[in-house]
Amino acid sequence: MGAQNQMKRTVLITGAAHGIGAATARTFAASGDDVVVADIDIEAAVAVAEEIRAAGGTATGNILDVADPEGWEALSRELRAANRLPAVVVNNAFFQVRGAAHEQTEGSWNKQLSVSLSSVYRAMHTFHDTLTRARGSMVNVSSVHGVLSWAEQPAYGAAKGGLISLTRQLSLDYAPHVRVNVVLPGAIETRQWDHQGKDDHDLARKQATLQRLGKPEEVATVIQFLASEGASYVTGASLLVDGGMTTSLGA
Ligand SMILES: NC(=O)c1ccc[n+]([C@@H]2O[C@H](COP(=O)([O-])OP(=O)(O)OC[C@H]3O[C@@H](n4cnc5c(N)ncnc54)[C@H](O)[C@@H]3O)[C@@H](O)[C@H]2O)c1
Repeated sequence: MGAQNQMKRTVLITGAAHGIGAATARTFAASGDDVVVADIDIEAAVAVAEEIRAAGGTATGNILDVADPEGWEALSRELRAANRLPAVVVNNAFFQVRGAAHEQTEGSWNKQLSVSLSSVYRAMHTFHDTLTRARGSMVNVSSVHGVLSWAEQPAYGAAKGGLISLTRQLSLDYAPHVRVNVVLPGAIETRQWDHQGKDDHDLARKQATLQRLGKPEEVATVIQFLASEGASYVTGASLLVDGGMTTSLGA
């Protein structure tokens, strides 16, 4: 840990207790950044932060329900008091209830949009000043669902498509000081795939040009790049990290 490739920044990552978020936390920490591992699953968030510190990095596990505006306010107060003002925010948390539109309730519909889409508004509302002061950046995690559709995922698809458009909007409103970009992962081996059958895994492999599922670390390194000086002329961009899943109709 601690390969200092640039000035140490505070990086806030939502949904960072598991999967892509946790891999992203480890990746930023390995470059010497101070990481806020924010999640509704506080025990797992604290465990990720402890693991990072044990490896020589800097991190804390922080409770955050991204659907709760007061939760954002509380986290903001805590980070400001500790002089840990985020220069990078990665919006990665999501929530999904499968089922066609008529099978959803007002509650399930609104919660999915609140966690997976409106949370990004809350992040910018809360931290636009620290991002601006730091000449920082925001990276949002959408999905190939933002550009393609699978059955019975209307709210998830709407949220992920909305994230691509919201990213462009934010990139205009906070330019030139804050860059805002979005990644679109394909099938990535996280716990989300634990309960999918062999047929689903085989199909995902077949649909990807690279003939395999991706690893969380392979999304994390792209997120880190978009937040780095190496991407200083990249804003409003949507970057596929899908192993070629959306390149063709598959084999
Ligand atoms: N795994 C894939 O195949 C895949 C594909 C495309 C896009 N994605 C996207 O990647 C992101 C991460 O997914 P993952 O596969 O790592 O899932 P995951 O289940 O491993 O991690 C999601 C994290 O979000 C947290 N979370 C859920 N609700 C929250 C809330 N209200 N507030 C704060 N945190 C909350 C969970 O506790 C968990 O730590 C999501 O945005 C997802 O849509 C994943």
